[in-house]
Parts: sequence; structure tokens; C-alpha cells
Amino acid sequence: MTSGRYSDKEIRTQAARRRTFAVISHPDAGKSTTTEALALHARAIGQAGATHGKAGRRATVSDWMQMEQDRGISISSAALQFEYRDAVFNLVDTPGHADFSEDTYRVLSAVDCAVMLIDAAKGLESQTMKLFEVCAHRNIPIITVVNKWDRPGLDALALMDEVQQRTGLLPTPITWPVGQSGDFRGVLDRITGEYTKYTRTDGGATIAGEETFAPEAAAELEGEAWTTAVDESELLDMEDQNHDQETFLAGKSTPVMFASAVLNFGIHKLLDTLVDLAPAAEAREDKESAPRDVAAPFSGFVFKVQAGMDSNHRDRLAYIRVCSGVFERGSVLTHSATGKPFATKYAQQVFGRDRDVVDEAFPGDVVGLVNASALRVGDSLYLDKKVEFPGIPTFSPEHFMVIRAKDSSKYKQFRRGIEQLDHEGVIQVLRSDLRGDQAPVLGAVGPMQFEVAEDRMTNEFNAPCSLERLNFSLARRTTPECVPTLARERNVEVLSRSDGELLALFSDRWRLQGVEKNHPDLVLEPLVVS
Ligand code: G4P
Repeated sequence: MTSGRYSDKEIRTQAARRRTFAVISHPDAGKSTTTEALALHARAIGQAGATHGKAGRRATVSDWMQMEQDRGISISSAALQFEYRDAVFNLVDTPGHADFSEDTYRVLSAVDCAVMLIDAAKGLESQTMKLFEVCAHRNIPIITVVNKWDRPGLDALALMDEVQQRTGLLPTPITWPVGQSGDFRGVLDRITGEYTKYTRTDGGATIAGEETFAPEAAAELEGEAWTTAVDESELLDMEDQNHDQETFLAGKSTPVMFASAVLNFGIHKLLDTLVDLAPAAEAREDKESAPRDVAAPFSGFVFKVQAGMDSNHRDRLAYIRVCSGVFERGSVLTHSATGKPFATKYAQQVFGRDRDVVDEAFPGDVVGLVNASALRVGDSLYLDKKVEFPGIPTFSPEHFMVIRAKDSSKYKQFRRGIEQLDHEGVIQVLRSDLRGDQAPVLGAVGPMQFEVAEDRMTNEFNAPCSLERLNFSLARRTTPECVPTLARERNVEVLSRSDGELLALFSDRWRLQGVEKNHPDLVLEPLVVS
């Protein structure tokens, strides 16, 4: 059987070349630097959206919002595509700022592997842990990179203990540093036993010098630093901390590497590790847990929807991850949520100021669809053979605000804007009969999402609005039967979300515990990652 111009075999070959991954880290651990270094070492072939950068640093493709520039953070996220050896990488970007965590979590549904970047001086930080938990929940295999080894930091063995204790993953280093943190000379390749010596180049701006030596030559060259690395590696051997592909893919162990992204040390090894160990694009399970073969007719799902990327083009962009078959621009797909056709005339891989049309994409790739206002996060698209992939979870909002149109003559624009933001999953829109449609409540994981919403309501939808904070910080899922009891409780409010869920809001966990104690029969379930 063939899908358009490609045979099943060709599609399988293309899928097997794909490595679709994200870098997860705490802000400042070096994600942008690593992304740039990876793209520099490999050959960037396309950019779906943006890699993010800091104000004053290298310009990025994404500058769609003044706010983004002012704050020097990236609000948008998409994918960067590059080739290395025979592999095609799709590096799905995750916004680094803690406030955009919901978006980040969703992006993780599109990847097959994650690189967990740790600052050598700081160890596992809070945002890294949160992201790790999402990966663990989804059984996403994780490669750990200890970055900034050129700077004084923690002891390598102590870092391994920390990773093991806090993540429960068995760290199985595939490289081990020669020279302690702050004195990064190179790495011992624990698989070949060889030494890779790194040499600084000017400002690290170009590819670092790398030379490989046999153990004897390494001992002569580095003396005690080499002996220490070998001794420590033997300690790891004794604890069985050696790479094991099966436990890695099962999300039970994590290969570890040491790097300095700013000096480009360890970047080649990371690319090689991704090619050799990271999973390729494989059959994805649908809602009924039936795997959709990669060579089956085209299918994919939306993991992100974004609007207003470019003020000259008022587009709605939906990012889809290709799961099976070949995406061919111009083909008419079916939108599984509505059963309606969806034309893909305007597919692109590059956007922002430069727009490149994408003509075809294979399993694992990310495609941006323009004019996609009908598509929601989690929706599936397919050709010929119907498929629905599991929905993407929303997260428990912790901040709540009432939103009102400042100008009542702009109510229509106001409603349209709110609907769109809800659609994109930028914020959650909660309503009740009591509050009415003119003053819905917005729920967000981080407060900065409100700023995004306010900015877009004013500038994009031409509906200036006012926001008023509500004193709630916790949401629980409840049922219609519980509403009368909850309505009698003080400082508790029940609102319905646009997906039909009923959410009970509480000021804090003590208030929640009080209500639970008085009414043990109430249904109050946490909204967790599903
Ligand atoms: P992020 O995307 O995770 O937030 O981190 P980013 O790459 O922006 O890096 C944060 C800071 O850490 C940057 O310094 C960057 O140069 C530095 N950095 C990244 N990797 C390494 C490394 O391996 N070694 C060392 N020593 N530093 C590293 P900055 O002062 O914020 O910016 P800039 O001075 O580089 O412009």
C-alpha cells in the first residue's frame, strides 16, 4: 500500500530517522544556549516558530509580542528542525518561564524523549522537577545533561545521588567528567573507555575542539584528574549504573552526560546519544489504546494553538504532531472532533517574519497550520482511516480573575476574544448563571497568563477589558449533585468550565479541608495530569 507518492517502506524509513524531543529545565539552566549549540553542530533545516533567547542576545524568529521582547522570554513555542548524521531532529521548544507551565506541559505530549538540563551548581530546581513529573507520568524517556561544568558547582557523584533520590530514576552516566566542576578538561566515555579532550575556541562561538585518546594516553595527559574519573566510573560500575536501553525506554533509568553548552563541550556527544539511544517516531496509541502504525494514512494531533504571531497576518496557527503517514500540503483532512473537512493549503514550517511553506512532513514532524480557527488543542486530524488520539490534559488553575469589557459597545468583540483565548487554552474560562456572560472568570496556572490575555483582548480583539482578582487558589472537580451543598459554604464558588467540567474554587487548602471535613460525601477531586 502507498500513501500518495511514498511506499510504506519509505514512510517507515523516514519515521525511523525522526527524533522528536524537548529540552526541559529551570529558567537559566542553559536551554537557549544548548538549543543554539545543537543547531550549530547539526544542520538547521527548518524552524517552525521560535527558539527563544534573551533580550540583547541573538535575535530570535519570534517577536510577535512586545511583551515578549520587554521581558526577554518566549511566550510562543514551536519546533526547530535539524539534521545530524542520518537523523532528522524535531526540537520542540518549551517556554522557560514558570508562568507558562501549562503550555509547556502540553508541548510534552508531542515529544518522544526529553533532555533534562541541570545546572551543575544548582542541581534539580523546582521547574525541572515539575516538568520531570509530567514526563514521568507520560513515560517519556529522559536523557540528563549536567550543564555548566566549566563553572564551579556540585560534586558529580553527589549530583547523581540527587537525581536518583529526587526523580527515582537510576542515573547511568554515559560520559563522566575529567576535572571537577570549574576545571572541565573533557569526558571519559564510559562505553568505549576513551577520553575526549575538549579545547576552548574563541568565546565558544564556533564548534569546540575535540580530540580522542586511548586510556593510557589520557592518564599521561591528565594525571590525577583522569585517575579520579576512572575511579569514580568504577564506583558507578559497582552500583550497576551503566546504560541499559530497556530501562531507559521504560522511564526507569536516565543516561547522564556532562556538558558546557556555552563552550560547546559535550554537544556532539549529546547529538550522538540522541541518534543512538532516543526513540524514533513510532506507532502512537489512539483513544482506545490501539496503536496507529506509522505507515497508516496520515494522522496527527494538535498540541498547540496560537494566534497573533504576526500583526500583519492575523492568523490562527495550530501545531500538529504528525503521527502516521505523510502530511502533504493541499490534502484535505478530516477533523475528528466535528467530522468536517480541513483544507491544508496553508501549511508552514517557518513563520514569524519569514514564512516558508511546508510541502510534506513525516511521523514525528511538527507542522503549523494557518487559518486553523476550528482546531483545538488535543484535536486529531486524519486522512481516510478515522483515528482519535487521547485528549491533552488541562491543568489545575491556581489564579482566578473576573474579566469585564471596559466599553459595553465592544461586547461582541469581547465575547469573540474570550472564546478564542479559551479555544487556544491560553486561559480557562469559567462561568456561572450568577455571574452572567458579561463577567466570566478566567483561571490560569500562572498570573502572567492574565497579562497575555489582557494584552491580546485589547490589541488583537479590540476589546479593552478590566480584570479583578478573586481570592481563590485551588480548584477541585465536582458533580451537579454537590452544587447545592457547596453553594451554602462561605468562600466557595462553583463554576462551569467550557469543556463541561464543574469546578469548585477554594481560597486555600485549609478552607478545602474544612469543607471536606464537614461534608465527607462531597465529590472534590484534584485536577491532575491525566
Ligand atoms: P535558559 O534558556 O535556560 O533560561 O538559559 P540560557 O541559555 O539563556 O542561559 C542562561 C545563562 O547561563 C546565560 O548567561 C548563558 O550564557 C549561561 N550559560 C549557559 N550555558 C552555560 C555553560 O555551559 N557554562 C556557563 N558558564 N554559562 C552558561 P547570561 O549571563 O544570562 O547571558 P549572557 O551573558 O550569556 O548573554
